[in-house]
Amino acid sequence: MEIDNIVQDLQGQGYAKFNLKNFTDFTIAEDELKILKANFADMPLDTYSEGNRLRNYIQVAWQNNEVTYGKFEPYQQTKRYNPVTGGVVRDYQNIGAEILKTALFNKIVKTDIDIVKNIEDMPPVEELMIGVHLFRYNAGKEPAYSSPAWLHKDDEDVVFMHLVDVSEDLVGGESIIAKHPKRIDRVLRMKKTFDTLVVNHRCFHAVTPMSVPEEYDDNAFLHRDIILVTFQKRETGEGIE
Ligand SMILES: [Fe+2]
Repeated sequence: MEIDNIVQDLQGQGYAKFNLKNFTDFTIAEDELKILKANFADMPLDTYSEGNRLRNYIQVAWQNNEVTYGKFEPYQQTKRYNPVTGGVVRDYQNIGAEILKTALFNKIVKTDIDIVKNIEDMPPVEELMIGVHLFRYNAGKEPAYSSPAWLHKDDEDVVFMHLVDVSEDLVGGESIIAKHPKRIDRVLRMKKTFDTLVVNHRCFHAVTPMSVPEEYDDNAFLHRDIILVTFQKRETGEGIE
C-alpha cells in the first residue's frame, strides 16, 4: 500500500514524501540507531566542493536478492547535471563496516530497492548503479549547503533523502520542489528521524543553505544528517563530459 502511493506520487509529480517507519516491517533497534547517529560526527569533510559537509560513501550491488557493499566503479557526475564537480572522479571515505552490518542500515537500503523495483520505467535493480552517501551539513556562522546549491536534477534517476537527525535550532535546510526552474511548487522540511523525500527526473529540487541563529557565537555548530540513496541507469547517453 505504502509503496503504491509512493510510486504513484513519483510518476505523477516527480517526488514523494513519507517516513520509513510507515512500513510495518521497518523496525528500529535502538542500539543500531545510536551507532548510526554517532557516525555522522566522525566523518571527514568533503573537500571536493564548498559547503561544509562531512561525508561517507559506499556503492551497493543487488544480486540474487542480496546486497553487497563496496567500491565497484569510479564515482563521478556529468557536467550537465553538476557544473561544480561534474567530470571529476571523487573518492570518499567508506561507510564503516559497523554501520553496514546493522539490520537498520540494510533495511533502509532494501526498502528503497523495493520501491524502485515497483517503478515501471526503471530497469531491474540488478542493472542499476546504487550509491549511498551519508552527509552531515555542518552549519555554523559559515553556512553549510548542497552542491549544486540551487534547483537541479541529479544524474541519478531516483534519489532518496532520509533524515537521520537535525538540530532543532537549525536555520534553513528546507527542501524545495519545482516542476520548472522558475516556479517553486513546494517548500518542505524533514523533521523526524527517517522522514524521507524521494525525487526523480520529473522535477527539480534543492535544499536551502543552513546556518545557526544570529545570536549564536562564532564557534557554535548545528547539523542536519542525511542518508542519500541513489539509483542510476547505466545507459550513457551523452556520456561523461
Ligand atoms: Fe540533488
